[in-house]
Amino acid sequence: MLLLAPALLAVLFPAGDSQDAFQELTSFHGIQISSFFNSTWVQNRGSGWLGDMQIHGWDSDSGTVIFLKPWSKGNFSSDEILEMEELFRVYFLGFVREVREHISDFQMEYPFEIQGIAGCGLQSGGAIVSFFRGALGGLDFLSFKNDSCWPAPEGGTRAQKFCALILQYKGICDTVENLLVKTCPRYLMGVLEAGKADLQKQVKPEAWLSQGPSPGPGHLQLECHISGFHPKPVWVMWMRAEQEQPETQRGDILPNADDTWYLRVTLDVAAEEAAGLSCRVKHSSLGGQDIVLHWGEKGWDSGWK
Ligand SMILES: *[C@@H]1O[C@H](CO)[C@@H](O)[C@H](O)[C@H]1NC(C)=O
Ligand SMILES: *[C@@H]1O[C@H](CO)[C@@H](O)[C@H](O)[C@H]1NC(C)=O
Ligand SMILES: *[C@@H]1O[C@H](CO)[C@@H](O)[C@H](O)[C@H]1NC(C)=O
Repeated sequence: MLLLAPALLAVLFPAGDSQDAFQELTSFHGIQISSFFNSTWVQNRGSGWLGDMQIHGWDSDSGTVIFLKPWSKGNFSSDEILEMEELFRVYFLGFVREVREHISDFQMEYPFEIQGIAGCGLQSGGAIVSFFRGALGGLDFLSFKNDSCWPAPEGGTRAQKFCALILQYKGICDTVENLLVKTCPRYLMGVLEAGKADLQKQVKPEAWLSQGPSPGPGHLQLECHISGFHPKPVWVMWMRAEQEQPETQRGDILPNADDTWYLRVTLDVAAEEAAGLSCRVKHSSLGGQDIVLHWGEKGWDSGWK
């Protein structure tokens, strides 16, 4: 489900690369992972995410939220935070009790894992969408939409039965609906404002070159590493003079521990063609001053252009 989150957001906010930064910051979601090991042992993990930045953890021993940023509370008062914590404690207890009670009804066998993702996002037009999805053993199980529970095809009759059951608990459904449609958007707007300085910070990347594992006899893999930048959108290309090299391979943008990003961009070339190539980096923090690193004849040297 953790891996599913970006896919889900992509479905909710279909758009090109250029809008990624905006979208990544304009949704808030919570993730629940409940691992039922045996009839007496269950582990609940919870976390809160602003786009792809984790801003909350959950201490399941004390039943309290761990605030990972100074601004993670958004503009909620201490009383409101305590209320939310109480709600989550009651939710986790009730959730575990209900699941255990229905183990045989639903023909569940230990061990199994239940995952949930729920939250809200701001669309580019300003509309707010809420979402709630549950998975069982890594497969989609159900979703809540428009005040109803929708079993996922992968969930089979078990998901249909589960939806029928959950809809009988009107109080729970109303609470969930209220959290998603009212509380979440209010929190999202507040936390985006509270964390503005951090979220919109501009941090310049560092870049360096290295030689990767040889792709074959007489060939080199040139690696260009870009690290420590924020925000996430970045343009990196291997170039010969002003000519972009279309065989440039771009890795995934990976998170550093300090909320900045890392990217590796490679190019496979015949050894004799490596000289004269350079790696060019464009990023919003550089104010139009691209970083250009040249692959030299004896390896590489760096320089700002
Ligand atoms: C559940 O697992 C825990 C940890 O392995 C073990 O201590 C406990 O006895 C188990 N309980 C049952 C009912 O199997
Ligand atoms: C949501 O539910 C309302 C009332 O039940 C219905 O009128 C509306 O068409 C539904 N919207 C969608 C998108 O399914
Ligand atoms: C927090 O900010 C949001 C958006 O600006 C606002 O609607 C809300 O009333 C504020 N206060 C609280 C306690 O949510």
